[in-house]
Amino acid sequence: MDEKDLKKLLSEMSLEEKVGQMVQIPAGMLTNGGIITGPADSVEITEEMASLVGSVLNKTGAKDLHKLQKEFIEKHPHHIPLLFMYDVINGMETVFPIPLAQGCTFSPEMAEEAAKAAAKEATASGLHVTFSPMLDLVRDARWGRVMESFGEDQWLNAEMGKAMVRGYQGGSKTAGESPDLSKEGNIAGCVKHFAGYGAPEGGRDYDNVEISERTFREDYLFAYRAAIEEGCAMVMTSFNTWNRIPSTGNEWLMRKILREEMGFEGVLISDYAAIDEMVNHGIAEDSREAAKLAVMAGVDIDMVSNAYIKYLAELVRCNEVDEKLIDEAVMRILKLKNELGLFENPYKDCSEEKEAMLLLCDEHRKLARKIAAESFVLLKNDQILPLSRDAHEKLAFIGPFADNTEIYGSWSFPKMTDRIVTIRQGVEQKKQGNAYVQGCFALGKEQVTRFGEKGKYTAEELAAKYEEAIDAAKRADKVILCLGEHRNQSGEGGSRVDIHIPENQVELLRRIHEVNENIVTVVFSGRPLVLTEIVEMSRAVLMVWMPGTEGGNAIADVLFGDIVPSGKLTMSLPRNVGQLPIYYNKFSTGRPNETGTKVGFVNGYLDESTKPLFPFGYGLSYTSFSYSPVTLSQEKMKRDEVIKATVTVTNTGVYTGTEIVQLYLRDLKGSVVRPLKMLRGFKRVTLRPQESCEVAFEITEDMLRFYDINMNYVSEPGVFHVFIGGNSDTGNKAEFRLVE
Ligand code: NOJ
Repeated sequence: MDEKDLKKLLSEMSLEEKVGQMVQIPAGMLTNGGIITGPADSVEITEEMASLVGSVLNKTGAKDLHKLQKEFIEKHPHHIPLLFMYDVINGMETVFPIPLAQGCTFSPEMAEEAAKAAAKEATASGLHVTFSPMLDLVRDARWGRVMESFGEDQWLNAEMGKAMVRGYQGGSKTAGESPDLSKEGNIAGCVKHFAGYGAPEGGRDYDNVEISERTFREDYLFAYRAAIEEGCAMVMTSFNTWNRIPSTGNEWLMRKILREEMGFEGVLISDYAAIDEMVNHGIAEDSREAAKLAVMAGVDIDMVSNAYIKYLAELVRCNEVDEKLIDEAVMRILKLKNELGLFENPYKDCSEEKEAMLLLCDEHRKLARKIAAESFVLLKNDQILPLSRDAHEKLAFIGPFADNTEIYGSWSFPKMTDRIVTIRQGVEQKKQGNAYVQGCFALGKEQVTRFGEKGKYTAEELAAKYEEAIDAAKRADKVILCLGEHRNQSGEGGSRVDIHIPENQVELLRRIHEVNENIVTVVFSGRPLVLTEIVEMSRAVLMVWMPGTEGGNAIADVLFGDIVPSGKLTMSLPRNVGQLPIYYNKFSTGRPNETGTKVGFVNGYLDESTKPLFPFGYGLSYTSFSYSPVTLSQEKMKRDEVIKATVTVTNTGVYTGTEIVQLYLRDLKGSVVRPLKMLRGFKRVTLRPQESCEVAFEITEDMLRFYDINMNYVSEPGVFHVFIGGNSDTGNKAEFRLVE
């Protein structure tokens, strides 16, 4: 349809029909085009109302969605197709590593490939929109949703977010190739959660966000903006308040910042029930007022609260809401349907044959295996890894994750969970005759998951597991301990104050350590954990996050050295929960504490260092790399000039390996306090033993901008330090001056 036809369609729609487009309901309420019992009753939606809605969430599957669409369109007065939306966060049936892990690859290319594969599977299953990428900046590992983010750095988040948008939508607006959503395999992306959801106080999910406007704009809005500029079709509001206003009713945030400043023209959807939640926030008296606040703020779709469907038409009829606002919102929704090509083909790629061909296909599995392996971060290796395939080296794989398929993130919903590769299955492809012992339980008695699951075992059962494990450890040359968090200890509603590995697992490590010190610990988790004791007691530690479908194969690839680890942390690993929030790009204080351990009226703690256990950007390899000093093409830079910063990186070890070379800048003086370091570039280089290569970065003026004392986004003349190294702690630096 062209714009004229869309306008004509809009002009012919009744007010109820228009409001319907602005409503999203769960699929459970629509069956055969009608109402089913249960949730439908509880939200007081009549069959007639449901027959006019614009979109549906939480349903996949070509067969069901094809039927649902067909029956719905036939009944709809203007035969307007439904939009089907779902959380395809890190893959669909082929589950890729969680986004936090994907960040550790520092490879936007891989994230784009994964998103593309996910889009193909999702669209074959009938979906039109995925609620991804999540680009919330995160600095507090207590928050369970850090697993969905790329981590604590806005620059990296922006690069990864843009890549995901390109992968989903098949185009890049900034590169002048506007995405064609109607094309086979393309899905509309939805940036979330706008805005600042990653900074809830105390790491408690849904909590208030209390950061300054400067930090909000400069750090937290940065990645969302980048994804919007890349052409992301949708944006989702966040649950939190910022500046004491819930995002979903924040007119300034949605109309001034999102629409006017960021130029977003797509569809804005509320988060789940977030409109109604404004009543709980205490800024709306009831659902009716909440609907009014949300529509005034510019929220186009109400995700499952009943506020719009019940009150919007009435608000218009009482002249409390201008119908123009409804028309604008509906037009944006119709445009999206049109861009997806749904008026011509309401089924798009939805096909059982395509599903059979694409879901879990070899190509996607291969990609999932590669990305998982590249996302692992080697924290320590005291000459114990890689493992040998030689039968003389006896290996015992011990722990609740040694033969476990529950190694995918909490925002993944694979149906064929039996096709997830466990460590045991992965290792057996490479070496036979190893011992595999559960050793203890994933969930300790003191833990509870998001769904209220608890560790269920008796003291006798645990003692028997320990005994079996100790026995296996005694007989092995090396013990590979597979420990970590349960998949449902992170994710939405997964905040924790204690971010250690469950105690019954740590106790297993202690007991094994008494009989065999050759321990390699493989750590599963959806967040940074406090690993201080684990690192002390292990000769090697490999963080594998929640690696997904091919997890076991990827872990085996890395443990046996078929792939040399190269992942780098994108969230600092704390030594102690009391250090949170902790992040590398912090600000200078008036009482600096360079070592982090000084006491006596300096910035820090009496009882703990201020430094993390491992900093942002950190990760080892089986080989080692050396860096030459940084050289700059010029020592002075005008705003329209570019400085080239160069280092030579040499592989000084015995394995071919990939190094993630990182560029950081520091602005030494500004009209407001500037961060001690800020990531402004990264490159992956693969080098053979003794091979060297030159790695160059271009420094441009836009990398130096910030919100100055007057809240203008500018760069200020002065001295900058340029650091290039293998992690954020590097001291390898040169300096230049920005001049007028
Ligand atoms: C709530 C979550 O906050 C959001 O991320 C998700 O996309 C929606 N639910 C839909 O499932």
